[in-house]
Amino acid sequence: MSTDTARSSDAAAAEQGGLQLDARQRSMLQAMGIRLWEPDFYKQNTAAAQQNIAGAAIKSVANRAVQEALPTVAAAPTLAPAPVAAAAAAPAAARAPAVPAPTAAPAARPSAPVTLQQRPDGIDRMDWLQLQSAVQGCQACRLCASRKNTVFGVGQPSTEPSLAPRADWLIVGEAPGENEDIQGEPFVGQAGKLLDNMLRAMVIDGQPLARHSNVFIANVLKCRPPANRNPSPEEVAMCQPYLLRQIALLQPKIILAMGRFAVQSLLGSTEPLGKLRGRVHTMPLDAARTPVIVTYHPAYLLRNLPDKAKAWADLLLAMETLQPAEATPS
Ligand code: URA
Repeated sequence: MSTDTARSSDAAAAEQGGLQLDARQRSMLQAMGIRLWEPDFYKQNTAAAQQNIAGAAIKSVANRAVQEALPTVAAAPTLAPAPVAAAAAAPAAARAPAVPAPTAAPAARPSAPVTLQQRPDGIDRMDWLQLQSAVQGCQACRLCASRKNTVFGVGQPSTEPSLAPRADWLIVGEAPGENEDIQGEPFVGQAGKLLDNMLRAMVIDGQPLARHSNVFIANVLKCRPPANRNPSPEEVAMCQPYLLRQIALLQPKIILAMGRFAVQSLLGSTEPLGKLRGRVHTMPLDAARTPVIVTYHPAYLLRNLPDKAKAWADLLLAMETLQPAEATPS
């Protein structure tokens, strides 16, 4: 490469963002009236960040949002320039001031007052598809005003939508959190990672359990309580017929009740979890009297690591209950 060519390519690099100005420097130059030429791509990705530097608070909220959305990314970058993928993964509410929402993301509902409606009739006669759409349209409690998505549950894809997926195991958690509300799928955050690991550790008939194979994961509540507050007793009661119909249609061989709200909804008990663990309960509210094993919620286990050993004992009890002779931990 000749010296001239080298210089001109340096100049081109400088022109094409090679100056490597950060958002603060760019905005200072703009404030001083110095216009910068920017290629379109760079403009798109820095425009939002430039708005943000005016408000350090917004920036720190957005950075926190990126960190929460991508917990495995070691050091979340600042927003200047925001990587497109990371920005798209951030929760919509925190992302809104900085980056336009991707078209695929569901729009946040305005928190205008909603008119509550009666829960649909005949839940106990609905097929899987009808139940799914009843949950999707449910406006029976005020959680419908703040949710982005209902979270019906996840399991093995079914070939016939009106039929429940095959699932010997039903896992029941508490309620969708922020990520679940955005994605419409249960347990997709940190607690979900732990749950996936717990499932993988259980090997039945030579196969580790997994969320898309022979397991259905549902929650007591199908809508996120604002700011992840605890479900109220009224909300648990309002959502209970949906969960009971899921159980009737799934006909699981065993149910893992994770945390006190699952216990409250499934067993109708407010006894402390520690007193209910270690034995096999049966569902009082379903005809099949499905066995229920009580264990800790994964989010609790993330905060109380020593109790993981107890949770593992609960999983062993569940495996032993399901298949006394064949169950093997991995
Ligand atoms: N915690 C739950 O109980 N359910 C979820 O879906 C996510 C977190």
